[in-house]
Amino acid sequence: MYKFIRDILFQFDPENVHHFSMNAFQYACKIPFFKKIIQQQYCIEHPSLEKNVFGLHFKNPVGLGAGFDKNALYLNELEALGFGFVEIGTVTPKSQQGNDQPRLFRLPKDKALINRMGFNNDGVETIAARLYNRKSTINSPLIIGGNIGKNKTTPNDEAWKDYVICFSGLFDAVDYFVVNVSSPNTPGLRELQEKDSLKKILSELQNINHSKNKKKPLLLKIAPDLSQEQLDDIVDLSVEIKLDGLVATNTTIDRSGLLTPESRIQTIGAGGLSGKPLQQRSKEVVQYLYQQTHQQIPIIASGGIFTGADAKEQLNAGASLIQVWTGFIYEGPGIVKNICKALIID
Ligand SMILES: Cc1cc2nc3c(=O)[nH]c(=O)nc-3n(C[C@H](O)[C@H](O)[C@H](O)COP(=O)(O)O)c2cc1C
Repeated sequence: MYKFIRDILFQFDPENVHHFSMNAFQYACKIPFFKKIIQQQYCIEHPSLEKNVFGLHFKNPVGLGAGFDKNALYLNELEALGFGFVEIGTVTPKSQQGNDQPRLFRLPKDKALINRMGFNNDGVETIAARLYNRKSTINSPLIIGGNIGKNKTTPNDEAWKDYVICFSGLFDAVDYFVVNVSSPNTPGLRELQEKDSLKKILSELQNINHSKNKKKPLLLKIAPDLSQEQLDDIVDLSVEIKLDGLVATNTTIDRSGLLTPESRIQTIGAGGLSGKPLQQRSKEVVQYLYQQTHQQIPIIASGGIFTGADAKEQLNAGASLIQVWTGFIYEGPGIVKNICKALIID
């Protein structure tokens, strides 16, 4: 059924389809009983799916990656689709438009996407207010991650201030934080993955964290394009700063091995590639980090997860939790249930 709907949706611009589908779904969820029916259809519960990771209780290990619900607009609807957790953002201090459209492209032959969104978001104040409002009106067990970044116009040597603003602004609104220094779509951002810059950002955030009554888990999201040396630096720093977890990985700038014709890839241009072509590299990074951290730091796997078998591979590689994004577009609303069904141990 979803394959049929997907074929129709794939005739239209990806970003418009994204907004149209989520708004239509949100509207439908306002119809009495519709949301209940969706929940009955898509949510799955089983004790073997439950996980305690970095001090939080997850009803299942399948989350939605950052960038899907950047502005925390659709949390109730995503919860109805069974997600164990949703990562909002990337949130920046000031709202920004992101790059010019078109900036999101499908590569159906590769089951992939290329995006150069550029952190389009409503800004920390608006998003925090939205989250506080939700908290005060409903009692929901959905775990929410806050993925934070810097504004495009902030120079790298002042980037840490942007992370501090977002961390402070969202502190009581989210359950865990992810520092995003790995998006390829904000010029110079990935340079912040170098040890000194990263140390400055993470230690400033941990200082604030330690001053609070109850700390929030602090995670770092990394690019799949890092060298082994850079990964080793990340491992050292994670131990030094006492990070609570790592998210591996963001999208890649690599374009090798694609089935989509080279001319099409050239026409699309710059951006981060996600989906199936990222799966292997993402798994390698998860495995490497798991070994090098001596299994001491929980890892969220992100990259090319479409099925239960994909999820199992990432969990076997050392991940504690997994996130989907491109898989959600290609597999449809049943993705969480299908993955969870494969993970249940009786
Ligand atoms: C359109 C789009 C927008 C994204 N925006 C963000 C973002 O704002 N912040 C972030 O950390 N990751 C972002 N990502 C990366 C995803 O969270 C995920 O890490 C990546 O796509 C790999 O997973 P996948 O292969 O399952 O899609 C985005 C991905 C896509 C496709």
